[in-house]
Amino acid sequence: MSGNNDFSTLCIRGGITADPAFGAVLPPIYQSTTFRYQTVGEDQTFSYSRAENPTVACLEARLGDLEDCLPAVSFSTGMAAVSTLLLALVKSGDHVVCSDVVYGGTYRFLKEILENLGVASDFVDASNPGAVAGAFKPETRLLFLESPANPTLKLCDIQALSRLAKDKGILVVVDNTFLTPVLQRPLDLGADATLYSTTKYIDGHNATVGGSVCTRDAELRENLADVRKCLGTIQTPHSAWLTLQGLKTLPLRLDRQSRSALQVAEALEGTPGIGTVRHPDLPSFPQTELRHRQQSGGGGLVTFELEGGFAAAVKVLGALKLCTPAENLGAVETLVTHNASMTHAAVPEERRRQLGITDGLIRLSVGLEDPGEIIADLQQAIATANREVENV
Ligand SMILES: Cc1ncc(COP(=O)(O)O)c(C=O)c1O
Repeated sequence: MSGNNDFSTLCIRGGITADPAFGAVLPPIYQSTTFRYQTVGEDQTFSYSRAENPTVACLEARLGDLEDCLPAVSFSTGMAAVSTLLLALVKSGDHVVCSDVVYGGTYRFLKEILENLGVASDFVDASNPGAVAGAFKPETRLLFLESPANPTLKLCDIQALSRLAKDKGILVVVDNTFLTPVLQRPLDLGADATLYSTTKYIDGHNATVGGSVCTRDAELRENLADVRKCLGTIQTPHSAWLTLQGLKTLPLRLDRQSRSALQVAEALEGTPGIGTVRHPDLPSFPQTELRHRQQSGGGGLVTFELEGGFAAAVKVLGALKLCTPAENLGAVETLVTHNASMTHAAVPEERRRQLGITDGLIRLSVGLEDPGEIIADLQQAIATANREVENV
């Protein structure tokens, strides 16, 4: 589709939508391992579903339209996207610079898998461009950024960092899972590729796991598709189809979730038992100028600090009646995560503390329920936890 369409149109109409066989409004799920050769000896787009699949291609085309780039490359999970991308881009002897606060699985892949294969990485405070520039070495091949970072919501200046990296011939990849192309456009800011756990906002219904990478670089795209075929990390047709359905309401969901998240954050600030509350649209957010320069919305995530630490976290999550204690984010259900014991358990305790992923840190992924009911549930759970602490 043309680049002139609004996101709400692209999320519904982008990519291939009408079934060429019968005109079905929804593209079919091509649940087929293999495809008949039209002419033996000639290449054809679809031959075997580990390499390409028509339903997956439909999702890839729509995501490409949304990012104004080539069709995406879609993967079985967000981590399949992370691992395939890194294996495609780096080789033994290369060096990676990564944001210090990143999804725990990305940290683990770099530290536990790639280091054993001879790829070193340094994790630096990417909110400080000087620290990033200082970490570059002659052998640095890749700068991996996450903004807002999971789970502290720290931002980094994608445009400034992309310029620094470009000067040295270093590729820039941005994990844009938290905001999606609807709220942040890393490719327009100079990044070479964006990465998504589509498990989160893009699907948005807690129904699938999936991942995607978007780029405007044809060689990079081809490389990714080749390595995906080698590793067998492609998205399944059924998950791709479900993701296509979820994607249709992405702009609507993000708009409402961003507004509800701010409302929840405002209500939590000043609540007894709670320390710092973070949402990019709170006046207390430390990077307001960058938030407005780089993002077109605040997003649906809120974090807050329980003064009672781990014990309070266990009590609050245990006392929830409406919101669900769970690890995912970005879906229509409000989910409450204790990152230190869930998503970032792989990060050593001392390092978690240095990065602000404390034992009392709670990440809220605000869903589409009534914001008043979300606030009431959180407040009753926090009050219950406070009472239990007082009675001990
Ligand atoms: C920012 C971010 N990137 C990547 C991933 C990995 O995605 P998946 O769980 O789909 O493998 C996650 C998962 O939580 C995430 O939050």
